[in-house]
Amino acid sequence: MLKEAEEAQGHKLKIVVCVSGGGTNLQAIIDGISNNTITNAEIIRVISNNKTAYALERAAKHGIPSVCIRPKDFMDREQFNQALLHAVQESEPDLIVLAGFLVVIPQEIIHAYQNRIINIHPSLIPSFCGTGYYGIKVHEKALERGVKVTGATVHFVDEGTDTGPIILQKAVEVEEGDTPEILQKRVMEQAEWELLPKAIDSIANGRLTVENGKVRIQGGKL
Ligand code: GAR
Repeated sequence: MLKEAEEAQGHKLKIVVCVSGGGTNLQAIIDGISNNTITNAEIIRVISNNKTAYALERAAKHGIPSVCIRPKDFMDREQFNQALLHAVQESEPDLIVLAGFLVVIPQEIIHAYQNRIINIHPSLIPSFCGTGYYGIKVHEKALERGVKVTGATVHFVDEGTDTGPIILQKAVEVEEGDTPEILQKRVMEQAEWELLPKAIDSIANGRLTVENGKVRIQGGKL
C-alpha cells in the first residue's frame, strides 16, 4: 500500500504476540498482514516462554523483534509474572494476541489490558476448555468423548480460563480414524488460521465492541 494511503488510514494497531511452540498461528497473522487480509495492524514484538519455540524462528525470518521469558530464569512465579508484565508494558501494545501461549496470564496483565487480550483455543468453547485443556490435549479429550464436531474459538481474555467474551467460532468435522494429531491439523487448517486473522482485522478496523460480557460486531457478521 502507498505510504500516503496508509497514513490516511491513521494509527496502526500495535500487536504483541505471545507464543510457546510451533507458531503456526503467528505465521497466519504474519501472512494475513502481508496479504492484506489484516489491515491497519503490525506485530511489534513476539514474546515466548520457550527458547526453542519454532515461533521465534518465524519471527526472526520476518524481522520481528522477540524476547524469551522463561519461568525457570526467575526465583519464583511472582518475579516471572513481573518480567512478563514489564515486557508487555514496554512494548506499549494496543492488542496482545495469545497464539498458542501456554502460560497462565497474570491477573495484573489481564486487568491492565481489559478487552485488549485475545486468545485462540482449539475447541468450540464451552466444550473442552478450561484448566488442563491446551494444545494436543484438547483433541485427545474430544476424541475420547467421541464428538462428531469440534472447532476453534477466538475470545477476549478475562480473569477465568477460556471464559472471556467470544469473538468468532468455526466448526470442524471429526472424521473416522482421526488421531489427535490429524484432528489438530484439520482444526488449525480449517478454523484457527482463518479465525485469528479475521478477529485481528476486525479489531484493527474498529468493528468489535464488548457490551455486557458479549462481543458485538458492527454490521452483525464478520
Ligand atoms: C493451537 O492449536 C492453539 O489453538 C492452541 O495451541 C496451538 C498452538 O499452535 N492453544 C491452546 O490450546 C490455548 N489453550 P501454534 O504454536 O502452531 O500456533
